[in-house]
Amino acid sequence: MAIPMRKGALQCLCLCLFSLPLLRCSSVADGAPNYREALSKSILFFQGQRSGKLPSDQILTWRSDSALADGSLAGVDLTGGYYDAGDNVKFNFPMAFTTTMLSWAALEYGGKMGPQLLNSTQVTIRWATDYLLKCANARANKLFVGVGDPNADHKCWERPEDMDTVRSVYSVSPSNPGSDVAGETAAALAAASLVFRSSSPKYSRVLLATAQRVMQFALQYQGAYSDSLGSAVCPFYCSYSGYKDELMWGAAWLFRATKNAFYLNFLNSLGANDDTDIFSWDNKFAGAHVLLSRMALVNNDKNFEPFIQHADDFMCRILPQSPSSTTQYTPAGLIYKLSGSNLQYVTSTTFLLTTYAKYMAASRHTFSCGNVLVTSKTLRMIARRQVDYILGDNPLKMSYMVGYGANYPRRIHHRGSSLPAVASHPEVIGCNGGFQFLYTSHPNPNILVGAIVGGPNQYDAYSDDRTDYSHSEPATYINGAMIGPLAYFARN
Ligand SMILES: *[C@@H]1O[C@H](CO)[C@@H](O)[C@H](O)[C@H]1NC(C)=O
Repeated sequence: MAIPMRKGALQCLCLCLFSLPLLRCSSVADGAPNYREALSKSILFFQGQRSGKLPSDQILTWRSDSALADGSLAGVDLTGGYYDAGDNVKFNFPMAFTTTMLSWAALEYGGKMGPQLLNSTQVTIRWATDYLLKCANARANKLFVGVGDPNADHKCWERPEDMDTVRSVYSVSPSNPGSDVAGETAAALAAASLVFRSSSPKYSRVLLATAQRVMQFALQYQGAYSDSLGSAVCPFYCSYSGYKDELMWGAAWLFRATKNAFYLNFLNSLGANDDTDIFSWDNKFAGAHVLLSRMALVNNDKNFEPFIQHADDFMCRILPQSPSSTTQYTPAGLIYKLSGSNLQYVTSTTFLLTTYAKYMAASRHTFSCGNVLVTSKTLRMIARRQVDYILGDNPLKMSYMVGYGANYPRRIHHRGSSLPAVASHPEVIGCNGGFQFLYTSHPNPNILVGAIVGGPNQYDAYSDDRTDYSHSEPATYINGAMIGPLAYFARN
């Protein structure tokens, strides 16, 4: 791992977790945020979510090996991958979405990241894709889609290293289909195959071949994984939006990776698209529209022109000055979609804002919402406001990224971060023994550097309360969508 940070730097744990000489320690007080520092930290966050055997260059050393027998209940090796959020479950549906977004960030913004941070991003992607490949290839006619019984897990407050809840293994198959999770897995593998195409051609070919096979399964045996798996995935990551969005998203990524007309024909056969004002681990229509508009705007492929209109329409539902806007903003200007983990919608929408701005700038495309003219600058301005707000430019002067700035959440809803580290407290802390650490008002002992939490409420207020998980819990998909916008604004 080459996250540009030396272990020694951790000794000055203050606010200066970085050893690069050009990086200033503090970030918010003296003007513009330090997007590069935030980018580096938001990548580092994923180390705290790692499941499996940790490598020797692990920087977040309050974490240790965990879940080394994952998959054994099904007789397969499913170790690795990421814990989803503040719990210890591996949910492949949001994990695959996170991987797709990390890969999209590497593809669009890798140049802005520079070689070291691009490498760290690739390492972060690979930690997920190595696991997703196991899930897709361990058994013929089966796609494994998660490890760990979420209901058992949520009854305990345990470090991943101590976890003793049942590690049930979940899968979909032709008789129990899951086109949502399979479509998203195919998207992740296809997007990652593009990331590794020049640096690791062999790995890239394995990713792409697997993506095509998983997509074929998603298309041939159509159905929702919520119907197949019930309480193992609902209400946690139920596919509320259905699976047509994942089929579109998967086909869009596979078209980009293969240029195979089969996927274009499938996209054209989908008929009327559902136009939404949200983009998330559940609903990918808007992401697919922006991704497909690239083929028209950047690659001049006329087949994709209809998607420009869909992408324009999405932006008109987001922009505050647009007459067709359906998006609420907090008084201080943060996009406000839903009370549960709102920042996930902010980061994913912001990714589409910066990325569409980039495509618009490349093709000098502009459009109008009613009589309001929208240029790439319009999108860039709203996107920047969101990123700056998250990094501390808000009424509370609170950075919603842990370990960034002077004032950040100290009581995040995260088992590993809130319990003592194995290194300082080697004795096992059992299922119920951990709850005192959930309910204490003390700050978390372990800093989950870079974690972005669910965020403030619709009035820009935040209570830093560990039990208030809709606001204080970090999640892989919040950070996964933030890497791109941070790289977009980072100065090289
Ligand atoms: C990142 O860089 C290291 C050191 O140069 C290299 O060994 C590794 O393969 C790179 N990782 C990826 C995923 O590209």
